[in-house]
Amino acid sequence: MPKIETALLAPDAAGIAEAERLLGAGGLVSFPTETVYGLGGDARNGTAVAHIFEAKGRPSFNPLIVHVPDFDAALRYADLSGPLETLAHRFWPGPLTLVAPLKQGHGLSPLVTAGLETLAIRVPSHPVAQDVLRAFGGPVAAPSANPSGRISPTTAAHVMAGLDGRVDAVLDAGACTVGLESTIVGSDPLALLRPGGLAREDIEAIAGPLADAGDSITAPGQMLSHYAPDAVVRLNANCANAGEVLLGFGPMQSDLNLSVAGDLVEAAANLFGHLHKLDAMGQPIAVAPIPNCGLGQAINDRLRRAAAPRG
Ligand code: TXA
Ligand code: MG
Repeated sequence: MPKIETALLAPDAAGIAEAERLLGAGGLVSFPTETVYGLGGDARNGTAVAHIFEAKGRPSFNPLIVHVPDFDAALRYADLSGPLETLAHRFWPGPLTLVAPLKQGHGLSPLVTAGLETLAIRVPSHPVAQDVLRAFGGPVAAPSANPSGRISPTTAAHVMAGLDGRVDAVLDAGACTVGLESTIVGSDPLALLRPGGLAREDIEAIAGPLADAGDSITAPGQMLSHYAPDAVVRLNANCANAGEVLLGFGPMQSDLNLSVAGDLVEAAANLFGHLHKLDAMGQPIAVAPIPNCGLGQAINDRLRRAAAPRG
């Protein structure tokens, strides 16, 4: 694709207005959410959506999440009822994506859903994401703003490192607070399609037990080798072998530590940023064991993908 000039925008009134203008003109704008930075385009504009896939180098069968400012806006595009509606009222705005039947007359480009009859939709809580969505007034399709298969971005610098020259603008509002992509829940049966920034336990406390994504129910984007750094990644390491750098957790000697206090929320917020930094050191990465509860499930999911053999 031809290289374009990527503007770095401040998250003030002028920056939001420019983001609104660019989205309206079919452009691509990376914006912060509480989970990770998104790569946004008008979800009704097939050319804009095609440009998202092109900029990421993303296989087109992998559908995108549509972002809206509130529950009422979501109802224009998706049939949210029963337990999905309950979860929306409890956890939106926040790091939860719901997969629901597409609404008749939704007006979205079929590229967004990659031809599926269901739509992944979410209401982000980040104030700058809210400002962009309210100013634009339409549905914004946004995958994470990283080249396909690479580590997700939690700062504007990560976005620029992967997509400079491929997007029109990046709204820089500092580091994302959650640091992991949203949790994805689908219905019939109610199932956890992707562990993420909202812990499974919190969802189950409201909606009862969730089925697990399996062969028949899955988020199509959950390819095994994903979130991949350049370096080889070795999991459940208690110390670094010769030549390795160590990503620690809890009180221990390490090159970088996800959370010295052993706090899984802090670890989630640090995960992608630390992987970006260690990757830049150009050595294999050993990773300390992470408890598999709360946000630890999503952290371990991302780490398993980072460590998977590359295709
Ligand atoms: O936190 C997030 O969710 C971030 C921010 C930017 O909102 N977005 C994000 O998008 O992680 P992305 O494109 O990297 O991941 C979207 C996931 C993919 O695994 C995709 O397969 C799945 O959502 N997905 C999208 N539509 C779906 C559908 N109709 N049914 C099942 N899974 C779907
Ligand atoms: Mg992604």
